[in-house]
Amino acid sequence: MTDIVVVSNRGPVSYRLEAGRPVASSASGGLAGTLRPLLAGSGTTWVAATIGEGDRLAAREGLVEADGIRVVPVDTEPAIFQMAYEVISNGTLWFCHHHLFDLARRPRFDWHWHEAWAGFRRYNRAFANAVIEEAPDGATVLVQDYHLSLLGSMLAEARPDLSSVHFLHTPFGEPDMVGVLPTAAAGELLAGLAGFGACGFHTERWASAFARCYDQPELAAAAGTDAAPATFVAPLGPAPEALAAGAVGPATVAASERLAEAVAGRRLIVRVDRIELSKNLLRGFWAFEELVYPSRESLAEYIGYRSEVEHAVARINERFGTPEWTPILFEAADDYPRSLAGLAAYDVLLVNPVRDGMNMVAKEGPLLNRRDGVVVLSRLAGAWDELSEAAIGVNPFDITGTAEALEVALLMAPEERARRAAHLIRAISARTASDWLDDQLRAAARP
Ligand code: F6P
Repeated sequence: MTDIVVVSNRGPVSYRLEAGRPVASSASGGLAGTLRPLLAGSGTTWVAATIGEGDRLAAREGLVEADGIRVVPVDTEPAIFQMAYEVISNGTLWFCHHHLFDLARRPRFDWHWHEAWAGFRRYNRAFANAVIEEAPDGATVLVQDYHLSLLGSMLAEARPDLSSVHFLHTPFGEPDMVGVLPTAAAGELLAGLAGFGACGFHTERWASAFARCYDQPELAAAAGTDAAPATFVAPLGPAPEALAAGAVGPATVAASERLAEAVAGRRLIVRVDRIELSKNLLRGFWAFEELVYPSRESLAEYIGYRSEVEHAVARINERFGTPEWTPILFEAADDYPRSLAGLAAYDVLLVNPVRDGMNMVAKEGPLLNRRDGVVVLSRLAGAWDELSEAAIGVNPFDITGTAEALEVALLMAPEERARRAAHLIRAISARTASDWLDDQLRAAARP
């Protein structure tokens, strides 16, 4: 593994400042949390950004270390990082690939945005330079996610000896959505990705959307090529041992006890999500509201997604709550043991993103659940492709349809629940996180 270089925005370890000194905490959740245990002790090089002041100080003092992984920090100026991470990666590419643009008003590609795009290019260049300097001869370079879309062409030009692949953990925008980006930027994006030996996706749907971008004459002209790079499909699977260990930890046991007390023997619909637009929390809560009572008032226009979510929860609880029953137990703080406790205890798991690369909650839930719980799953999540035979599918935009699906799930006969739960476990157990890593290495090794 010493001739493998992993490249991602967030690395295996992050540092916070305590009394002016950097203190390490290991990555949890997400891509970095998945990769770190797979690479521990391997001597693999991992190139990652310095994200806050703690990371920057640790990098300057040469302290960065993670479980026998050789971490190479890329220390870009905070202003460049902010433009690359917030304005372009999270504010533009995330919206493009998840089809979240509110096209009547946003995006706005003004001078500020174009300056940020230049910052994104500099951030990608800084990563490319680190890989160019650090990668051993003929190394395999595994680049992760949309933040680093431009790296392919930069590496191909300077280090043709490397075998590089890009793996995208989100969907890829359909060509019309990629065409919303300023044409030169869309071209640069597609040219950057075309420089990789292969580009990987969680499902065939995202791979196909990507390849079809090169069939659009304007996009191909801007990219300078109509030849899409090779693609491969490698669905990410969960890490069952780590999940099982987390499920029996003392913090999870305590969270389970608190949850059981709050639920008091009622049936439980669970969702575990970041508060983020693609996760479609609002429509999930509105569907719950229709399920409880079949009519609904409209809400104020979009102000801030989180405050809208909080408002929806408060309103529904106010409307239907009794002294003995709080309909929605909404917990905004990130608390992994509590998430595990919820996943173990659900009768129904609601996963309704408007579009999602994979969605690991849909895969981890059934492995942890102890009640033959039913999964209600958006057909626009990548996980749907593997779980469609045993989950109940929903169109994530259809609130009434989602409410009906929740009702079907709650009323399902025990034998049918058990049959579906067993099917889900079989489908999910067919692949683990390490199969996904092996697929990337195989794709990189192809001539
Ligand atoms: O879920 C998609 C994803 O890109 C993951 O691969 C990654 O861990 C995460 O989103 C990025 O989140 P953050 O911006 O918090 O690093």
